[in-house]
Amino acid sequence: MQLFLDGSDIDKIRKFSDLGLIDGVTTNPSIILKSGKNMIEIISELADIVSGSVSAEVSALDSEKMVEEGVKLSKIAENITVKLPITWDGLGACNTLSKKGISVNMTLCFSASQALLAAKAGADYVSPFIGRLDDLNLEGVDLISDIKLIYSNYKFSTKILAASIRTINHVKQCAHLGADVATIPIDIFERLVKHPLTDSGLTQFTADWEKTGQSII
Ligand code: G3P
Repeated sequence: MQLFLDGSDIDKIRKFSDLGLIDGVTTNPSIILKSGKNMIEIISELADIVSGSVSAEVSALDSEKMVEEGVKLSKIAENITVKLPITWDGLGACNTLSKKGISVNMTLCFSASQALLAAKAGADYVSPFIGRLDDLNLEGVDLISDIKLIYSNYKFSTKILAASIRTINHVKQCAHLGADVATIPIDIFERLVKHPLTDSGLTQFTADWEKTGQSII
């Protein structure tokens, strides 16, 4: 499973990218608002830091304007993926942009039928929002397995990019179910490595090693 970061904190994204752990980044209008920065500048910086896909979302709601914005965003860097909402206009824009060779991520996916349409429209990625389904007392990750089954039935190449991830368990469930990508908020990503037994085990090993009086180098 590829690991994307869902956010725009440049320092942290650079740090994890330098560790060789990050395959891409996703953003959305709420993330851009929170950053307080200019969207084009931040997307361009992110596209410089990571070599993989960087999703940049259009603001237009009509197909023609989405295509115009998508073409502009795609010119920021070679690794830009244009993010479009799953609406009829978004699907039309996806079809047009995909035919131009521009990578598209269809976002705000809450049903298998929407994911089927995204694949038919030629999307590179579809983004099911699992946390927001959980918010409605539904089992968000079930959508991942539904889409997985449909895409494998028809050998669609659209990648399942699990989004709206809220917990470490979501990451594990996405990996179990075979999501192609999980886009993870930075605070959750930071917690993926943590385990109290790792901390206590390391403390003990370090203390015992000091007692040996040896050195490796
Ligand atoms: O990329 C979409 C994702 O960030 C939405 O997450 O937590 O706002 O539902 P959330």
